[in-house]
Amino acid sequence: MADPWQNAMDYAVAVARKAGAVIRHALQNDMMIMCKSSSVDLVTKTDQKVEELILSSIKEKFPTHSFIGEESVSAGQPCVLTESPTWIIDPVDGTTNFVHGFPFVAVCIGFAVSKELVFGVVYSCMEDKMYTGRTGKGAFCNGEPLHVSKQTDIRQCLVISEFGSNREPQVVSKIFSTMKKILCIPVHGVRSIGSAAINMCLVASGSAEAYYEMGIHCWDIAAASVIVKEAGGVLMDAEGGPLDLMSRQVVAANNRTIAERIAKEIEAFPAKRDDAP
Ligand code: IPD
Repeated sequence: MADPWQNAMDYAVAVARKAGAVIRHALQNDMMIMCKSSSVDLVTKTDQKVEELILSSIKEKFPTHSFIGEESVSAGQPCVLTESPTWIIDPVDGTTNFVHGFPFVAVCIGFAVSKELVFGVVYSCMEDKMYTGRTGKGAFCNGEPLHVSKQTDIRQCLVISEFGSNREPQVVSKIFSTMKKILCIPVHGVRSIGSAAINMCLVASGSAEAYYEMGIHCWDIAAASVIVKEAGGVLMDAEGGPLDLMSRQVVAANNRTIAERIAKEIEAFPAKRDDAP
């Protein structure tokens, strides 16, 4: 059967590559850093410029489609997934890494139709790794097929998580308490890369067995969730239910056994849904 969205996916790959080049160039120059929800929730002129580049390129080609972009939502645009073909964009996933020159920064472009994700493109631009996933057609990195790890023993697993940008003491306590419980299962190790999308691509690549995070946003995980699924992995929320992109929580793992074991240890904390008015 003909693939109606292959053209859109090819276009997303080209746009992500172009956006990555802008980010690499910006790293060599002065960057203007600003704060969003707190002094550790950073945004730069590059985030805004790259989102504008991605949005204008895609709107020119697909003028009737809908968009959810991290910086547009910050500027007051709605964050609602409708039946309409919708592009979900994080121009710079790993802004704190970008600010510090810590070399894990990704351009994320996800695409959903009738609320179902159809493809995801994650370009890890400092590593020049182009990750792609197309529902029903597999996941790839620079054209090579991706497969999750076959590990089923949690004690043999490498787990990734993040600290996020919420510094309320009760939230930080829950993050540390969850991490301690997981570390003491014991697992082989816990890592933090600083980009949700790259973390998920590492699970898709079989380099880590699981990634979880509370407080995450839909644009951080939409594109990469297709890549994890197509590499044979599973996605769920912290209660073990199906992934809800807007729920601010994600567990991505190589299989259900590992995902459920991780989810069991998570101490969730309340976070306003991305699509809350
Ligand atoms: C952030 C990164 C980070 C994660 C945060 C995200 P941003 O995305 O993915 O790893 O811990 O929760 O918000 O703000 O750099 O696009």
